[in-house]
Amino acid sequence: MTIIAIGSDHAGYAAKEFIKSLLQDLSYNSHDYGCFDEQSVHYPEFGQKVAQAVSGAVCASGILICGTGIGMSIVANKVCGIRAALCHNTFTAVCSREHNNANILVMGARVLSFDQMAEITRVWLATPFAGGRHETRLAMIQEMERINYLYKNKGDVHV
Ligand code: RB5
Repeated sequence: MTIIAIGSDHAGYAAKEFIKSLLQDLSYNSHDYGCFDEQSVHYPEFGQKVAQAVSGAVCASGILICGTGIGMSIVANKVCGIRAALCHNTFTAVCSREHNNANILVMGARVLSFDQMAEITRVWLATPFAGGRHETRLAMIQEMERINYLYKNKGDVHV
């Protein structure tokens, strides 16, 4: 069963509820990691929950929404194995899947309309990774992640 992790902060809450019902209409299962109302919260908490669910393979992919999408992107990309893509239109949504094999879609609720978010989400979910030359680049990123993690934690590993 494919489960999509979804999360937002207060700025993205209404959009998250809207995208959740879209996922249901499209017959996707989703797991909501919060937030659960429009009270002011801190986006790193919810971004990390969704990113860890995807990184740990509890969910196949994720969707994160905050005001601009920037904060959620920064947070999600701190988690190992996450390729979170902030998408503003269907072109960036397609490229983020074909080229980057993005496993988390990030959108800004103060940037996009509900209709735009729905269109981006539909396209993002339907677009497969193109592989080929892009595999090499993703392998480079994975290696950088490994080296930088070791470097940060041990201080004695050099590229
Ligand atoms: C919340 O006001 C806002 O800072 C947040 O939703 C997001 O845009 C952060 O990047």
